[in-house]
Amino acid sequence: MPRVRFVKEGLEIEVAEGTTILAAAKKIGAPQGDRCGGVCACSTCHVYVTRGFDATSDLEDEEFDVLDKAFDVRATSRLGCQAKVRGDVDVEITDESFQAFLDEHPTEQDAARALRKPS
Ligand code: FES
Repeated sequence: MPRVRFVKEGLEIEVAEGTTILAAAKKIGAPQGDRCGGVCACSTCHVYVTRGFDATSDLEDEEFDVLDKAFDVRATSRLGCQAKVRGDVDVEITDESFQAFLDEHPTEQDAARALRKPS
Protein backbone atom coordinates (compact mmCIF):
# COMPACT_ATOMS: atom_id res chain seq x y z
CA MET A 1 0.00 0.00 0.00
CA PRO A 2 1.26 3.49 -0.79
CA ARG A 3 2.64 5.52 2.10
CA VAL A 4 1.84 9.24 2.33
CA ARG A 5 4.15 11.28 4.53
CA PHE A 6 3.25 14.85 5.51
CA VAL A 7 6.72 16.22 6.02
CA LYS A 8 6.00 19.43 7.95
CA GLU A 9 3.74 17.63 10.41
CA GLY A 10 5.79 14.45 10.76
CA LEU A 11 2.70 12.35 10.02
CA GLU A 12 2.66 9.23 7.88
CA ILE A 13 -0.12 6.89 6.78
CA GLU A 14 -0.56 3.91 4.50
CA VAL A 15 -3.56 4.15 2.21
CA ALA A 16 -5.12 2.12 -0.57
CA GLU A 17 -3.81 2.82 -4.05
CA GLY A 18 -6.00 5.48 -5.68
CA THR A 19 -6.59 7.39 -2.45
CA THR A 20 -6.29 11.15 -2.82
CA ILE A 21 -3.72 13.08 -0.83
CA LEU A 22 -6.56 15.06 0.74
CA ALA A 23 -8.29 11.86 1.88
CA ALA A 24 -5.01 10.67 3.38
CA ALA A 25 -4.63 14.01 5.19
CA LYS A 26 -8.11 13.75 6.65
CA LYS A 27 -7.52 10.16 7.74
CA ILE A 28 -4.43 11.02 9.73
CA GLY A 29 -5.40 14.53 10.83
CA ALA A 30 -2.93 16.52 8.74
CA PRO A 31 -4.03 20.18 8.53
CA GLN A 32 -4.87 20.62 4.85
CA GLY A 33 -7.53 23.06 3.65
CA ASP A 34 -10.46 21.91 1.54
CA ARG A 35 -12.85 24.82 1.26
CA CYS A 36 -14.78 23.46 -1.74
CA GLY A 37 -15.10 20.01 -0.25
CA GLY A 38 -12.75 18.36 -2.70
CA VAL A 39 -14.50 19.14 -5.98
CA CYS A 40 -11.61 20.93 -7.71
CA ALA A 41 -13.00 24.43 -7.32
CA CYS A 42 -10.93 26.35 -4.76
CA SER A 43 -7.17 25.52 -4.68
CA THR A 44 -7.06 25.57 -0.85
CA CYS A 45 -5.84 21.95 -0.90
CA HIS A 46 -2.64 22.98 -2.72
CA VAL A 47 0.38 20.82 -1.79
CA TYR A 48 3.89 20.17 -3.03
CA VAL A 49 4.73 16.54 -3.73
CA THR A 50 8.39 16.69 -2.76
CA ARG A 51 9.11 13.00 -3.34
CA GLY A 52 7.31 10.51 -5.53
CA PHE A 53 5.63 12.99 -7.88
CA ASP A 54 5.58 10.29 -10.57
CA ALA A 55 3.70 8.04 -8.15
CA THR A 56 0.64 10.28 -8.37
CA SER A 57 -2.16 10.30 -10.94
CA ASP A 58 -1.79 12.48 -14.01
CA LEU A 59 -2.62 16.17 -13.74
CA GLU A 60 -5.85 16.79 -15.70
CA ASP A 61 -6.83 20.07 -17.42
CA GLU A 62 -9.42 20.96 -14.76
CA GLU A 63 -6.85 20.62 -11.97
CA PHE A 64 -4.33 22.63 -13.96
CA ASP A 65 -6.86 25.47 -14.36
CA VAL A 66 -7.69 25.56 -10.64
CA LEU A 67 -4.02 25.35 -9.64
CA ASP A 68 -3.61 28.57 -11.58
CA LYS A 69 -5.49 30.34 -8.74
CA ALA A 70 -3.04 29.10 -6.08
CA PHE A 71 -0.05 31.00 -4.66
CA ASP A 72 3.57 30.01 -5.34
CA VAL A 73 2.79 27.24 -7.79
CA ARG A 74 5.79 25.00 -8.47
CA ALA A 75 6.62 22.04 -10.70
CA THR A 76 5.72 19.79 -7.77
CA SER A 77 2.33 21.44 -7.13
CA ARG A 78 -0.85 19.38 -6.97
CA LEU A 79 -4.34 19.77 -5.64
CA GLY A 80 -4.65 17.31 -2.79
CA CYS A 81 -8.24 16.51 -3.70
CA GLN A 82 -7.27 15.50 -7.25
CA ALA A 83 -3.88 13.78 -6.88
CA LYS A 84 -4.33 10.05 -6.27
CA VAL A 85 -1.40 8.06 -4.99
CA ARG A 86 -0.01 4.99 -6.72
CA GLY A 87 3.14 4.72 -4.63
CA ASP A 88 4.98 6.33 -1.73
CA VAL A 89 4.96 10.12 -1.64
CA ASP A 90 6.22 12.94 0.57
CA VAL A 91 3.88 15.89 0.71
CA GLU A 92 4.32 19.43 1.95
CA ILE A 93 1.06 21.17 2.74
CA THR A 94 1.50 24.72 1.44
CA ASP A 95 1.24 27.69 3.79
CA GLU A 96 -1.83 28.73 1.81
CA SER A 97 -3.52 25.40 2.44
CA PHE A 98 -2.49 25.36 6.11
CA GLN A 99 -3.97 28.84 6.59
CA ALA A 100 -7.18 27.71 4.91
CA PHE A 101 -7.34 24.80 7.37
CA LEU A 102 -6.92 27.22 10.30
CA ASP A 103 -9.68 29.43 8.93
CA GLU A 104 -11.98 26.45 8.41
CA HIS A 105 -11.28 24.85 11.82
CA PRO A 106 -11.06 27.59 14.48
CA THR A 107 -11.25 25.12 17.37
CA GLU A 108 -8.31 23.08 16.03
CA GLN A 109 -5.86 25.93 15.45
CA ASP A 110 -3.63 25.36 18.48
CA ALA A 111 -3.27 21.63 17.77
CA ALA A 112 -2.57 22.26 14.09
CA ARG A 113 0.07 24.92 14.83
CA ALA A 114 1.75 22.60 17.34
CA LEU A 115 2.06 19.90 14.68
CA ARG A 116 3.60 22.03 11.99
CA LYS A 117 7.32 22.63 11.74
CA PRO A 118 8.40 26.08 10.49
CA SER A 119 9.60 26.43 6.88
FE1 FES B 1 -11.05 22.67 -3.30
FE2 FES B 1 -9.26 20.69 -3.69
S1 FES B 1 -10.50 21.08 -1.95
S2 FES B 1 -9.79 22.29 -5.04
